[in-house]
Amino acid sequence: MSRLRRLSRTVERTLRKRGVVGTVVYAGTSIADRVRGRTSRPDAGSTEAIDKDAVDDEEFDKKYGVDTGGQIAQTDLDVSEKTWIHGSAYVPTSPVDFTKVLDGLGIEFEQTTFIDLGSGKGRVLLMAAALPWKRVVGVEFSPSLADVSRKNIERYTGPRKCAAMSVETNDATKYELPEGPLVVFMYHPFDDTIMKRVEEHISRAARASSRRILVVYFKPVFREIWDRANAFEKRREETLYVIYDSRKG
Ligand SMILES: C[S@@+](CC[C@H](N)C(=O)[O-])C[C@H]1O[C@@H](n2cnc3c(N)ncnc32)[C@H](O)[C@@H]1O
Repeated sequence: MSRLRRLSRTVERTLRKRGVVGTVVYAGTSIADRVRGRTSRPDAGSTEAIDKDAVDDEEFDKKYGVDTGGQIAQTDLDVSEKTWIHGSAYVPTSPVDFTKVLDGLGIEFEQTTFIDLGSGKGRVLLMAAALPWKRVVGVEFSPSLADVSRKNIERYTGPRKCAAMSVETNDATKYELPEGPLVVFMYHPFDDTIMKRVEEHISRAARASSRRILVVYFKPVFREIWDRANAFEKRREETLYVIYDSRKG
């Protein structure tokens, strides 16, 4: 994407979000940050403090022959969906032991589909595949990130107990949930506007049948939306994530 196009998308985004005065303040802060050499943005997902003992970005990629590392600002993503303005930057979840995250929740893996909404380059899909899910599905609205994740799925040499893995290039608000029990993972993929729509969609699905839906929300910036969702109750709360369960009691 050209520098000019990137700049105009950034200005469009900040004007909508912050108004004229807010944009001027934001521009000043961003320039000051750059001068100080900081690269992180307020709306980028952060990997801070996630599983410090685990392998880091580069190690994960080297160890398993994939490309999941790095960070990409949303203004640099090739997204045509109007919702791009509400999306977070691409930042992969630091390597996490999903057996620990999902341990003790009574999930029947063979019957359950694991979905990552905003799956990026597929790091979480690869880590999740160590468990024997019925299917692992990624949903990502950037076509180039979705392509990278499909290649990663082919190349991955790490532990794999699930063979049925796929990635759909789609907006999370348009994605039709599959039948059967689900675990829906999200790593701070979008703002509250989109999160509310996604919560309503998933809550409707939970109310419409007796199937179990678990929502795993990492870096839960907009957790109050899920805290208030009547179709769910909080099942587990850790520093880095919260898990909500449609099965009451
Ligand atoms: C913080 S990254 C997380 C990537 C991946 N889930 C992981 O944890 O490694 C958020 C991702 O969500 C994607 N995203 C943001 N809004 C989206 C939307 N409305 N529909 C689909 N993907 C979206 C971004 O392109 C980005 O790849």
